[in-house]
Amino acid sequence: MTATDTAVHLVQLAGAACFVIGLHRMRSPATARDGNLLSAGAMAVVLLATGVALVVDNRVPVTSWVVGLAGIATGGLVGAYAARTVAMTAMPQLVSVFNAMGGGAAALVAVQDLSSGGSAGGFPAATGGLGVLIGGVTFTGSLVGAGKLQGWVPGRPLVFRGARPVSALLVLGGIAGTGWLVASPGSAVALAGVAVAGLGFGVLLVLPIGGADMPVVISLLNAFTGTAVAMAGFVLGDTALIIAGALVGSSGAILTRLMAAATNRSVPAIVAGGFGTGDAPSGTAGAPGAGQVRRTDVDDAALQLGYAQKVVIVPGYGLAAAQAQHELSELATLLGERGVDVRFAIHPVAGRMPGHMNVLLAEADVPYPQLEDLDEANPRFPATDVALVVGANDVTNPAARRPGNAVSGMPILDVDRARAVIVVKRSLGHGYAGIDNELYTAPNTQMLFGDAKETLSALLAALKALVS
Ligand code: TAP
Repeated sequence: MTATDTAVHLVQLAGAACFVIGLHRMRSPATARDGNLLSAGAMAVVLLATGVALVVDNRVPVTSWVVGLAGIATGGLVGAYAARTVAMTAMPQLVSVFNAMGGGAAALVAVQDLSSGGSAGGFPAATGGLGVLIGGVTFTGSLVGAGKLQGWVPGRPLVFRGARPVSALLVLGGIAGTGWLVASPGSAVALAGVAVAGLGFGVLLVLPIGGADMPVVISLLNAFTGTAVAMAGFVLGDTALIIAGALVGSSGAILTRLMAAATNRSVPAIVAGGFGTGDAPSGTAGAPGAGQVRRTDVDDAALQLGYAQKVVIVPGYGLAAAQAQHELSELATLLGERGVDVRFAIHPVAGRMPGHMNVLLAEADVPYPQLEDLDEANPRFPATDVALVVGANDVTNPAARRPGNAVSGMPILDVDRARAVIVVKRSLGHGYAGIDNELYTAPNTQMLFGDAKETLSALLAALKALVS
């Protein structure tokens, strides 16, 4: 090992420590931005140190530099453009596509190494084979997931006859192919077999996923990306890549467990049995006798909110779709100034990606202490004067308390237990799970129909008129 290698390893070690500290800081919204910057900065320093070491030791020919730098520039520009221009509501699809790129890149690194005979010997060939397999699953699985989120692939579960045995065969084939690569490193047939098994399994894994299980699969694929990257780290003998991949893989696995718990699904059952589909036909919640829908208007809603003592606001995907977070934040401030106790109840799968509502509200400077999670918020509802639901649907559907429908078993925000409920949305239309919401016909619920941004602006004006 040269002196430069030692120096690079020390930089990688410091970088790894920064990744861990960065992840730790991401636990709270107040420090998450710093944590993100620290981790990204550490990764930049590690990359720079590796580049400098390659120059000093003159290990890479000029053509490789040109190709590498052109790749970094192209990927960096496309990534930066996509991240800056994408609508907030399309962010989950973008994250899914980025996931696919991570998994695909890790698989390609392993393919290159295995086919050029670099991964000779048991351990390198095994990690290389697993890198191709897991990276392949992540690549196609994430693309199908992005297609579902974008509406290009039907969101309902797509189940084909014989899909499960084929999936099982693909997994076994991928593992057998990896064993073959260990026995005869560089075998093109084995490598192609593993790649096809991974790519095929990724498609079959995600197609049968129904709406309610999408959050779980997004985080599961995130864990797969990390694992594939860690495998690529083993193939290249790169410590920083192994550590970064392991951290992404393990935090993704923890997030998967949390998401599964938030939707009351079990991870092994999901993985073994395909992703839950719910029993009820799409469009129904199996609800007992539909009741009357009561409408309210902006002036009446402003009166109820303005003279309440306790208000809990429940944001959902519609808030993000309408980009109404600033109006909502202003409304909460105005109510606070009138002496109303205002909290925000955040469901873990509200919106379309983990932490979606937290990010949205942080953008509008809603103070973190006003945000409550499911366990904190639910005991509060019976003593709440008005629960204001803005663009949330599935996460408030009392049908989840009964078996036999697409949201069965998912813990919900118990808004129906508040004294009065005002729901802001455009229609009685369905949410992601595609079923009716019984909350809308509950006797204490009033519907305030309209686009969230326009309705909240009108509500703000009516509240200000109340003040003056
Ligand atoms: P949803 O159940 O998807 O409901 C959103 C509601 O927003 C819709 O019913 C829609 O009704 C309303 N809406 C849309 N645009 C609006 C606008 N401009 N103004 C006002 N309202 C608007 O949302 P949720 O309650 O947040 O639940 C999230 C769902 O997504 C869950 O089923 C969850 O499992 C799933 N999911 C979550 C994730 C993660 S990780 N969070 C990932 C994938 C899927 P109208 O059309 O009537 O306005």
